[in-house]
Amino acid sequence: MARYVGYKKPKNTKKTVLRLMHYLGSHKILLFLVAVLTAIGSLANIMGTYLLKPVVNNYILPGDIPGLLKMVLLMGLMYLAGVLATLGYNQLMVRMAQKVVSEIRHDLFVHTQSLPLSYFDAHTHGELMSRFTSDADTISEALNSSFTLLIQSGIIITGTIVMLVVLNWRLSLIVLFFMALMFLFIQFNSRRSHKYFTEQQNNLGSLSGFVEEMVTGQKVEKVFNHEAQDFDEFCRRNEALRKAGTRALSYSGMMIPTIVSLSYFNYAVSACMGGLFALANLIDIGSLTSYLVYVRQTAMPMNQFTQQMNFLLAALSGAERIFEMLDAEPETDEGTITLCKAEEQPDGTLTQCEPSRGVYAWKCPEADGGFRLVPLKGDVRFFDVVFGYTPEKKILNHINLYAKPGQKIAFVGSTGAGKTTIINLINRFYEIDSGTITYDGLDVRDIRKKDLRFSLSMVIQDTHLFTGTIADNIRYGRLDASDEDVRRAAKLASADSFIRRLPKGYDTMLYSDGGNLSQGQRQLLAIARAAIADPPVLILDEATSSVDTATERMIERGMDSLMEGRTVFVIAHRLSTVRNAKAILVLEHGEIIERGSHEELLEMKGRYYKLYTGQFELE
Ligand SMILES: Nc1ncnc2c1ncn2[C@@H]1O[C@H](COP(=O)(O)OP(=O)(O)O)[C@@H](O)[C@H]1O
Ligand SMILES: [Mg+2]
Repeated sequence: MARYVGYKKPKNTKKTVLRLMHYLGSHKILLFLVAVLTAIGSLANIMGTYLLKPVVNNYILPGDIPGLLKMVLLMGLMYLAGVLATLGYNQLMVRMAQKVVSEIRHDLFVHTQSLPLSYFDAHTHGELMSRFTSDADTISEALNSSFTLLIQSGIIITGTIVMLVVLNWRLSLIVLFFMALMFLFIQFNSRRSHKYFTEQQNNLGSLSGFVEEMVTGQKVEKVFNHEAQDFDEFCRRNEALRKAGTRALSYSGMMIPTIVSLSYFNYAVSACMGGLFALANLIDIGSLTSYLVYVRQTAMPMNQFTQQMNFLLAALSGAERIFEMLDAEPETDEGTITLCKAEEQPDGTLTQCEPSRGVYAWKCPEADGGFRLVPLKGDVRFFDVVFGYTPEKKILNHINLYAKPGQKIAFVGSTGAGKTTIINLINRFYEIDSGTITYDGLDVRDIRKKDLRFSLSMVIQDTHLFTGTIADNIRYGRLDASDEDVRRAAKLASADSFIRRLPKGYDTMLYSDGGNLSQGQRQLLAIARAAIADPPVLILDEATSSVDTATERMIERGMDSLMEGRTVFVIAHRLSTVRNAKAILVLEHGEIIERGSHEELLEMKGRYYKLYTGQFELE
């Protein structure tokens, strides 16, 4: 009783139940077995009680001791069967529930990986996490206990009422009256406490969200001396939770004592009336004995029935939320062009081959069932590309650009100009609204995403490191890389020296996004991770923004030698970083306003010139 889940009723109960049943799929027979065992358990209980009547009437009153022993043994066996059935279905249910929930979590994870980035933009992390945790948990709980308890209490209530009427219908009117009273009270009370529990749940969510923000934003809180305001806010939310909790629990706390006193009252009245009935020979002693035992067991199943119904509804709405996420449209991938290993023949043509010579080619299916090989070079072009994250607001307007293999292309422009957005489109993180992006002359929409992303290495602006060792994090870029490869990549990214100075070197564990490293060191690891993949196209989005200029120069030299003959896109704040780029594109409000080499742009005396000279003044 102490446990309660705030729940929202599912929007479409039937559909959700059917879908959940689908998960039970192969377990349907087991579920049926569970229902049968539950019924046996409950019926054994009811029958056992009924046996009291013949025990008293036929054996105790006449004094038939051997017969009595036999009957007691029979009752014992009956209750034993009940206990065994209960143990049996509990074990089955635990296994089934865990299996079903793990299957749901499995599907959810697979689906989550297939969702487009726009889905993650529109949902909070907490929301997505709770599908895996609390929502999956309520389903597990409901399958674990609510399902059987509901059947059990349903059977016990019905069975008890039937037996009461069979034993003495006149007397049973008293019980029916009290049961109706209890039913009304439970209805009223649970409706009320449901309202308050939902309120409590919402307040709890608000409080824990606030605490979470405060814990993750610790540093910012201290920087701005925001402790006092945050404390006030915390007190306000804490107080709201206290009030809602008090109301909820005082209502639900009334439930058990009221039901218990009603049931005692019921018992007392039934016993008195039963005594009078017995005196008037309207009931025999045996029937009265089992009758009174039945009376005592009417209250609890009723209470249990309502409560489990609530749990079940909570689980169904959790399941509904999970199914909603499972129904979210996955990233579309209609691409048919794949990447394959290739070998150049003496006549200059390409053929597919298995052992890698480090040459890759695009394998384009032809209409006649054959395929054509296009060498992977890293030629990227944008034709009149228009894009917006939301339909209302266009971020990029008619972008045209080309990057020939081996060129280093730089994007410069003020914050929010759309530099990262352009990069996101090459990788097909988002779909363009109109125009075309080609890669080695092929429309990127025709290339399978997996292969497209394999051919591009990217250091994204908001670097993320995973929990694991430094070596693991670098190896993330190419899982079969040897320790030697890892070290070479680290050297290339100028990360080797700082890593070796760490007490555990490459085996140093990183936690919570590399919190034990400096921002610049995190960037160096991200660069090493991209370098180890040895890609034909490398994209660096402000990859060295937190690194000192000397280290940046070193990385630049390393990258230049690694990427010789391959394409590099660089976005950088410091214009000194992009000086040696083949072409510099100046972006403003989603449009390319200038294009040229460093010298050409300076001569133009336009935006680039201003940015460049402005930076000079700063330095
Ligand atoms: N995931 C997103 N959803 C909606 N708008 C976005 C998203 N990411 C960026 N934007 C918007 O797109 C514009 C360009 O952003 P971005 O390309 O990141 O700029 P930057 O040139 O600084 O890299 C900004 O106005 C930003 O508000
Ligand atoms: Mg950016």
